[in-house]
Amino acid sequence: MNAAAANIGVVGLAVMGSNLARNLASREGNTVAVYNRSRTKTDELVQAHPEAGFVPAFSYEEFAASLSKPRTAIIMVKAGGPTDAVIDELVKVFEPGDIIVDGGNAYFPDTIRREKAVRDTGINFVGAGISGGEEGALLGPSIMPGGSDESWTTLGPILKSIAAVAEGEPCVTHIGHNGAGHFVKMVHNGIEYADMQLIAEAYDLIRRGTGKTPAEIADIFAEWNKGELESYLIEITAEVLRQIDAETGKPLVDVILDQAGAKGTGAWTVQTALSLGVPVSGIAEATFARSLSSHPEQRAVASILPGPGTDFAVDDADAFIEDVRQALFASKIIAYSQGFDEIRAGAAEYDWTIDLGAVSKIWRGGCIIRAQFLNRIADAYAEQPELPVLATSPYFADALTRGQAAWRRVVIAATQAGIPSPAFSSSLAYYDGIRADRLPAALVQGQRDFFGAHTYKRIDKEGTFHTLWSGDRTEIEAEDTH
Ligand code: 6PG
Repeated sequence: MNAAAANIGVVGLAVMGSNLARNLASREGNTVAVYNRSRTKTDELVQAHPEAGFVPAFSYEEFAASLSKPRTAIIMVKAGGPTDAVIDELVKVFEPGDIIVDGGNAYFPDTIRREKAVRDTGINFVGAGISGGEEGALLGPSIMPGGSDESWTTLGPILKSIAAVAEGEPCVTHIGHNGAGHFVKMVHNGIEYADMQLIAEAYDLIRRGTGKTPAEIADIFAEWNKGELESYLIEITAEVLRQIDAETGKPLVDVILDQAGAKGTGAWTVQTALSLGVPVSGIAEATFARSLSSHPEQRAVASILPGPGTDFAVDDADAFIEDVRQALFASKIIAYSQGFDEIRAGAAEYDWTIDLGAVSKIWRGGCIIRAQFLNRIADAYAEQPELPVLATSPYFADALTRGQAAWRRVVIAATQAGIPSPAFSSSLAYYDGIRADRLPAALVQGQRDFFGAHTYKRIDKEGTFHTLWSGDRTEIEAEDTH
């Protein structure tokens, strides 16, 4: 064992951990200590990559001794219990001032709890969201670290050395204290769900409306990828649609079971938004669409329910495809707008200072939702850091103004044809809701006051009021009960 030879360590050497370790080792100035619970994985990694110059450790004591101070270790193990178990071990062998980084997809309240517990020992705890999958971990992910300013001093240069680079800037920034990084990563994943569902709805509508084959639709997505929709998810959609199943000769998309899985980050985004009172309806519908797809027993029973009974064939395929493209872009703007709204609300609730423009910049490269239009989001926040609704910034408002007629036509066509498009239609409903002069929420307030004396405010004077519904129906001033 080389004493204190490494400036950074990685614990957990499954694919993400070993790729991140290799990425770290490939950058100038880094020497990487590696540790895994089962020795075999460590041996295999070290043997397979002699060029990396890894410093292997076979106990936590050895691992700690191989790190220079302040010791810095990134944990890449399964979120939940396994992460807690590793933290407990590292705390025993680390010293005040050292840094423990959790690079998994942790639930942010766990990160807040862990940071607080670890801080009591004088050790820094950093919850870092890392996006980009296996390839990103190896070649350059987008990294969302949350933790103390002190830890960022040591960690910042190391993370900058391995992050993706977008337009000359590393895709990493100090998001905020304790759980801020994992919160932002959670919302990233929520947006990822919405983006994927919107793309899937676009594909479905085009296929069913025009009869085009998956390969032909792949060409459409490849074309879209040259314009304002340019993004990693559009790019890989074309790849997936073009793939032919070797066994049957059919398009792969036609032999994949239509039941979408989920590991939970989308659900967390929605649960958190519900608690914060932030309408992330596009993300919610995308999450629910996966749930709906994954109940074969219900779908089998419900297949007896009638549809509209008409064939869906559009007259002008090219015009319809262009409408779908515009509907996709408009709905995507709404999904991002809702996601950024959730980050703002989370920052207010948990007392984080989060620079929304900086978040959009570090999502331009490395991560799953990387897209050209994140530059436009960065511009919007640069012009107006306190922008209350991202969709109202000049660039996006203009895009929505241009796209809304097409968006409405697509939602109408889908509804009339009986094709589910929950993310398209809920995004449009949000758009119409947020821009409405007046909402039927006034009636809801009246109903609440009727059955529960929940009170209401008036548009024409200050105060809180209640109507004596079961009495003479006069209005009285009342205590505000919300
Ligand atoms: C990323 C991805 C990554 C993972 C998701 C997938 O940013 O690299 O989001 O974290 O692919 O967890 O989530 P589901 O399995 O829930 O689709």
